Amino acid sequence: MRKPLIAGNWKMNGSRASIKELLDGIKAGIDEVKTAEVAVCPPFVYLADVQQQLSGTPIAWGGQNLSTEEKGAFTGEIAASMLLDFGCKYVIVGHSERRTLYGEDDAVVAVKYGVARQAGLKPILCIGETLEEREKGITEDVIARQLNAVIEKEGVAALGDGVIAYEPVWAIGTGKTATPEQAQAVHGFIRNLIADKDAAVAEQVRIQYGGSMNAANAAELLSMPDIDGGLIGGASLKAEDFLTICRAAG
Ligand code: PGA
Repeated sequence: MRKPLIAGNWKMNGSRASIKELLDGIKAGIDEVKTAEVAVCPPFVYLADVQQQLSGTPIAWGGQNLSTEEKGAFTGEIAASMLLDFGCKYVIVGHSERRTLYGEDDAVVAVKYGVARQAGLKPILCIGETLEEREKGITEDVIARQLNAVIEKEGVAALGDGVIAYEPVWAIGTGKTATPEQAQAVHGFIRNLIADKDAAVAEQVRIQYGGSMNAANAAELLSMPDIDGGLIGGASLKAEDFLTICRAAG
């Protein structure tokens, strides 16, 4: 059985004070989350605060991005080793905002996936089509291209070291969620694509859904057979909503 993972992607939100309040709220209710694994991904500068507040709890934490480089003259970048230094377990790789706003292409994302994995972090690999791509009927081509970039560079077994997040770009931050059937169709496609190369990895790898998952729609999405958790943006900034999603995962 795959253990669902609910991860909060806080994006560029919060302050030291608001994060303390949010984490206090999550910690207060975490005992009611029976099955799911829970993680939060704060902005880099708050990792030390988060580490201090979550150490000794069942809640994990991670980065939202990492550098392709190990160290050196790369102003503004954060290395995998630095994330490990602050106790990160996960790191989000290839989020659609990184892809579209900061020009990260499949090749860069594949390098980041490899760097994270080799350092001992669990990469959360984000893939997903835009509205235009969905309307053109090329969703599966886009998903296959994004996934194969990592498989070709790192090998299919590498997917077993991370998590995949299917995030249709048109559903991110828009309040427009994929229907459970739409999401399941793509999750099933992803698992089959992997199974064609390695059945054991396909069976084991967790595939999260992301894109306006919230307290009201989480249970239905999470009931689908190939949806193994969620990557949550907006709804992860409110403790009660985030906990409701975590409980919905079991
Ligand atoms: P959202 O963001 O839940 O606000 O749509 C999800 C994400 O970008 O990971």
